[in-house]
Amino acid sequence: MDLHADLILVERDDSVDLAFRADVLRGLAERQKAIPARWFYDLTGSELFEEITRLPEYYPTRVETGLLESHGAEIAARVGPHRAVVEFGSGSSVKTPLLLREINPAAYVPIDISGAFLRQSSQELAVKFPHLPIIPVEANFMRAVALPESVCHLDMLGFFPGSTIGNMVPRTAVDLLRSMRGTLGGASQLLIGIDRVKDLARLIAAYDDSQGVTARFNLNLLDRINRELDGDIPRSGFRHMACWNDIWSRIEMHLEALEDMVFTVAGQTFFMRQGETIHTENSHKYTPNQARLLLQAGGWTPTWQWTDAAEDFLIVLADASEFRSAP
Ligand code: AVJ
Repeated sequence: MDLHADLILVERDDSVDLAFRADVLRGLAERQKAIPARWFYDLTGSELFEEITRLPEYYPTRVETGLLESHGAEIAARVGPHRAVVEFGSGSSVKTPLLLREINPAAYVPIDISGAFLRQSSQELAVKFPHLPIIPVEANFMRAVALPESVCHLDMLGFFPGSTIGNMVPRTAVDLLRSMRGTLGGASQLLIGIDRVKDLARLIAAYDDSQGVTARFNLNLLDRINRELDGDIPRSGFRHMACWNDIWSRIEMHLEALEDMVFTVAGQTFFMRQGETIHTENSHKYTPNQARLLLQAGGWTPTWQWTDAAEDFLIVLADASEFRSAP
């Protein structure tokens, strides 16, 4: 057996993200082509998202940060001290310190699937909070996660900002909330940010900004596919599209083909008609009532909520529910 050839094969397989390839090939073969939004975030995509959060039209980051700033003391009073803060996702360099500074936690446990990202953000946080135990966990938080032994005796506060829950269809969102309930236990609380239903023109503008940053963010997915999966998709043959789907109460982002085309990805051939789209993201918007119903369905009982004067964004605090089917 040729050991050398074997090694080269292993190396090559390692260099493509197998899950990325599987998602793209499966998604492009569907009738409505679709690629999961999590693949936006390569290095360029993450930088473009940072740029999005600073756009005048993109209100969610600004408004949620403002809510954490202006209601920090009240949030702290309702949460109480000495909890382990378990953040789903690596944490934002702005929002996480705002919360931690207010609530006097006993530990901070960020959960993220990307170990590299996790280590970097944990180190940055350790500089700001030298006395806080920080215990990063590399895991997929869409499934139940075993928390580190050292925090198991503590009451937990789950933290899930950014309206990331909006990326999921409601049944997946409910699955995630239930799995968080399992991870965090019966004495826990959850602090979650959820983007609200609002004027359609403002929603569309937030996902189709005048500087075209969101368009570049969306189209970058094609560059990533071409680079990492040996594709030849013509980027200039597509345009960014954002639309409102009222049945699902969500903004959808698509990449629309401007002409009939043929391209290959990872050795497979795909055809698209002019006007056909690749669906790349859902961003569900909730009324406060819908948001609270979603939380109840996921095993969490809302206890308080904060919103801004323009009613753009909602932060909900909830307790892990006891299961009771009888009244
Ligand atoms: C980070 C998922 C909340 O849906 O608003 C921003 C991502 N996409 N502009 C969102 C996003 C296009 C964002 N989330």
